[in-house]
This record gives sequence, structure tokens and C-alpha cells, in this order.
Amino acid sequence: MLEHKRSDFPEGFLFGAATSAYQIEGHAFGGAGRAMWDDFAATPGNVVRAEDGARACDHYHRFADDFDLLKDGGFDCYRFSTSWARVMPDGRTVNPDGLDFYDRLTDAMLERGLKPCATLYHWELPSALADQGGWRNRDIAGWFGDFAEAVMGRLGDRMFSVATINEPWCVAWLSHFVGAHAPGLRDIRATARAMHHVLLAHGTAIERMRGMGVGNLGAVFNMEWAAPADDTPEAAEAAALYDDYYNHFYVSGVFKGRYPDRLVTALGDHFPIGWQDDFATITAPLDWAGINYYTRSLLAPNDGAWPHHHAVEGPLPKTQMGWEIYPQGLHDFLVRTARDYTGDLPLFVTENGMSNADVLRDGRVDDAVRIDYFNQHLAAVRAAIAKGVPVQGYMAWSLMDNYEWALGYEKRFGMVHVDFETLKRTPKASWHAFRDALAR
Ligand code: FCB
Repeated sequence: MLEHKRSDFPEGFLFGAATSAYQIEGHAFGGAGRAMWDDFAATPGNVVRAEDGARACDHYHRFADDFDLLKDGGFDCYRFSTSWARVMPDGRTVNPDGLDFYDRLTDAMLERGLKPCATLYHWELPSALADQGGWRNRDIAGWFGDFAEAVMGRLGDRMFSVATINEPWCVAWLSHFVGAHAPGLRDIRATARAMHHVLLAHGTAIERMRGMGVGNLGAVFNMEWAAPADDTPEAAEAAALYDDYYNHFYVSGVFKGRYPDRLVTALGDHFPIGWQDDFATITAPLDWAGINYYTRSLLAPNDGAWPHHHAVEGPLPKTQMGWEIYPQGLHDFLVRTARDYTGDLPLFVTENGMSNADVLRDGRVDDAVRIDYFNQHLAAVRAAIAKGVPVQGYMAWSLMDNYEWALGYEKRFGMVHVDFETLKRTPKASWHAFRDALAR
């Protein structure tokens, strides 16, 4: 059972669940174009068992049943994403079937009283645009602006909120420096360019949508608490640098119009020419900001190449991902983001949750550890609200088990269990716990 109930939160606080297009829809259906995740998955060694999102949860055909689960659970809103490669198979030309699909999806949400919270881009860049350099190419700002206009020209009148790009750190760093996500590069120059272009594309889309009269526009940042592995000054510096490139860089660009000094020093030569002149667009005013939060990292210095540090294993209990459970980080990020960056702007927790090796037994999944995770993180949200942080909603990741990127279908994050053979959905104990809490 959840220790929290709806009435413990401010009037109008929104509870929702989040998903993303490639992770659930079934990318092979409906005439979508190739996405860079199809290519990444088809390259051996990138994804567990080389699994891809071709079928995923077949949400493409089953969305009505999935939305019934949201409605029956008592959720207020649903955070979904619109696949660029579905709407524009070649990245530039609209496929009407793609827009029709999101149109049906929107109406199905509204019919059930669910507030549609769209995220334009959750990582499925059309391969045709990846061929042209993807996030390394400055033109992506305009391409993304065109995509935003195409999608919101159709859906914009019915959205509760619209976010641009899910998790800029993952789009840039995880995908171009670590190489763990598509396109799988390990290239510092590509990384610096992607870091800047992802924000330029964000701001461009905001300006375009604002110009069309679409309202309640925001951005979604992932944040990971950075802690020093010990109490030496070197470890403190390692954590501060990690904090800069993981967390501060993106919110600083969007809300302050500048990048942290450490990163300008380290990456300045790699940023695209004229980057300093782009902040008028990057800082386009927003109506809200979203934070995705899962865990913390402990950082220790080393003698290797920049950034001269590595993460070490921490002592706290871990999820199936090996991620430490550290709810204090969510509280601290909400407080810090409002204090240092967003002020009175409404904040939303746009993702939070855990993966667990759930098993279906006698038609039930007893994911008590996930309920405990939600309990601890909802307590962190309430503590931030009690300090005056304007948090207005919480969206659990995820509605259902899905394609967990490079980890394939092995990591289960859902409140609803999915049998990936039969595609049968079974609400877990955590879904029941939310249903009970949201009714109280
Ligand atoms: C976030 C992603 C989401 C999911 C969760 C576990 O970084 O936005 O798609 O993979 O992590």
C-alpha cells in the first residue's frame, strides 16, 4: 500500500504515468520510417539479444485497453511521446497515417478524462536524419522545429502540456560520449555539438509552437545526484564536474543563457562556431519544467583522460538496474532547481520509478519493493512541497513494462506487467496501490 494519498498533496496536484513511443508502440506498425534505434539495435553488441522496438508492447493496436488501465487506476494525466520517424518517415515529409495515429491516441485519452502530456522527441531520430549527422548537424534545430509544427498543428489544440526533448543529457552525452545509446558514438566533439544543438532545437521548437499559439510548453531534464566517493577535495571536484555536465549544463543553458565555466573550458573548442549567439533562442520562456529522477552516482578521481573521474559502487540498496535508491536526491533537485533556476515556474516530476525482476504468479505480481520506492520518492516530493517548491505533478515511470533501450525487454519498470510473448497486461501490486491512494 502507498503511505500517501491524493489528499496529502495540494489541490489540483496531478498524478500520471509516463511512457515513450519507441518503447511501447511497435515501431514496425503504421508506416513509420527507420529510426536510429532500429540501426543501433541491429548492430551486434549494442542491445541485449539485439532486441528492438519493432513490436514492443503493440500499444499501436492496444492503446484503448492501456488507457482503460490509466483511467481505472485513477490517474489524471498521461505522458506519452510522438515518434518523429512515425510522423515523418524520412525526417522531413509528413506521413498522414502517423499524425492520424496520434490524433486517435489524443481523442482516446480525452474520452477517458486523461490529460494528454506530450513529449515531442523521446529518442527515435529518423535514420535519414542520422545519416546527415543527426544531433551533430546544426540544421537539426530547423528540422525539429518543422516536426514540432507538424505534430502540434494537428494535436496542439488538445494537449494539456507539451515538452520538447526528453532528457537532453541522454540525447547528447549518453549517446555520443558514452556510446551506450543510439547512435552509439564515443566522440568528444560530436558530444559537445550534440549538447548545444539539443538545446538549440529545444528553443527553436518552443519559439515555433509559441508562434502557433500552443500553450503550456516545457522541457524535461534528467538529473542524477552527484556525490563525492570520499571526503577528499579531488573527489569533490570529480562530483562537481559530473554535476556540471549531467545536470547544470542543460538547465543553465535554458534558464540562465550560459554554460558552466568548467565545461566551456573543457569543451569550448568543440562547440559549434557562434554558439554564444544562440542563447536568445535557447532561453525561450517556458511555462513549466520537468525533472526525471532515478538515482545518484558516487564519483572518484582518476588519472585517465578528461573528465578524469569514474563512478564507484555505492552502499545503498539497488534496483534491478544496479541503481542506488536515493530519494533524498529527488527532494534536493526539486529544491535546488526552483532556488537556482526556475523560481516560481511549476515543476513536475516527469519520470520516477524502478526496474525489478518481477514475476507473474497465479495472475499476480507482488512488486512490494516498487511500492516502497514510490513511497520514499513521494515523501521526497511532499517534503519539497512543504518547503514551498511549486511541484504540481508526479508521473511514474512507467505505465507498463517496455523496451528498456540497450537493456532490451529484460528490465521491468512497469506498474503493469507485460508478457512479451502473449502481450497480456497484468496490473501489478504497485498499480493497485496507486489506485487505492488516488481514490483517497
Ligand atoms: C529514462 C528514459 C526512459 C526510461 C527510463 C528508465 O532515462 O527517459 O525512457 O528508459 O529512463
